[in-house]
Amino acid sequence: MEKKSMDWENIGFSYIETDKRYVANYKDGKWDDGALIDDANITMNECAGVLQYAQTIFEGMKAYTTEDGRIVTFRPDLNAARMADSAKRLEMPVFPEERFVEAVVETVKANEAYVPPYGSGATLYIRPYMFGINPVIGVKPADEYQFRVFTTPVGPYFKGGAKPITICVSDFDRAAPHGTGHIKAGLNYAMSLHAIMTAHANGFDENMYLDSATRTKVEETGGANFIFVTKDNKIVTPHSDTILPSITRRSIMYVAEHYLGLEVEERDVYFDEVKDFAECGLCGTAAVISPVGKVVDHGKEICFPSGMEKMGPTTQKLYETLTGIQMGQIDAPEGWIKEIK
Ligand code: PLP
Ligand code: COI
Repeated sequence: MEKKSMDWENIGFSYIETDKRYVANYKDGKWDDGALIDDANITMNECAGVLQYAQTIFEGMKAYTTEDGRIVTFRPDLNAARMADSAKRLEMPVFPEERFVEAVVETVKANEAYVPPYGSGATLYIRPYMFGINPVIGVKPADEYQFRVFTTPVGPYFKGGAKPITICVSDFDRAAPHGTGHIKAGLNYAMSLHAIMTAHANGFDENMYLDSATRTKVEETGGANFIFVTKDNKIVTPHSDTILPSITRRSIMYVAEHYLGLEVEERDVYFDEVKDFAECGLCGTAAVISPVGKVVDHGKEICFPSGMEKMGPTTQKLYETLTGIQMGQIDAPEGWIKEIK
């Protein structure tokens, strides 16, 4: 299989069309067999549920080339389960979890030429998604849905790769108590667009959202969960019902405890204690582990001792262990790696 010729080291996080995508349709109460197709465009009615009332959910995952040349994905069963949770919350039919994993495997196989080589710093991003496609004008769920998977090769989510970023405390809220913050619905991202443009216009890379009920607790960013390292080297991550349960974060907490022997805590993290942490990072499929050097709260700066030049030492160890597992240099816990080829 000949790889596409691309400047793998320098691709950013943007859409590059690949050859094949998977499509399955839900109609009359059942999913059809699904197939790989060539056309990257979708035609739908002007009144489709997704266009009028944003009935759409998605997942994000990656395929990696390992050191010994295999192609693998990371914990796709957890993405399948999370997508099922998202579907239920938006009154959509669940795409069966085993079929989700099969569709991902098929789509990656069909786009093997676009899986970036080992060591390039790039990976193949996989985007499963589902949306209401039939006309809906009264506010209600659609009756027909489309589930799709496309892939696109990507580099680092934040420009500068592993260089620490600066984030600001947002004046906007991302999620409400009892709302949809815990699922991966397009609507959560639509409402974050003004907040991210505002952050960028003010010179920041991302937003730190606080809990909207009390504005005292750290939640997450627009596209990643937080991990903090205390001065005595404990790993702390916010517990909240209104953040996305990041698969990367859950994996990091396991790796910290079981591979690195660190103490871990998932608990309320008050904004007031952020100044006392030694290191801070954002974690997610796209973000991997992106170090945060500085948090700015309306002009007041919190500068982590790890600085603005490189990752802190514990963040670095977590990063190396996690990516080592994903790229096959370190043995993975049972069931974490799904071999594609
Ligand atoms: N939080 C939000 C809002 C996200 O969009 C993402 C990305 O998927 C994450 C956290 C990280 O989740 P995961 O590690 O499962 O990719
Ligand atoms: C992911 O990490 O997969 C996401 O969906 C985050 C998004 C901001 C790209």
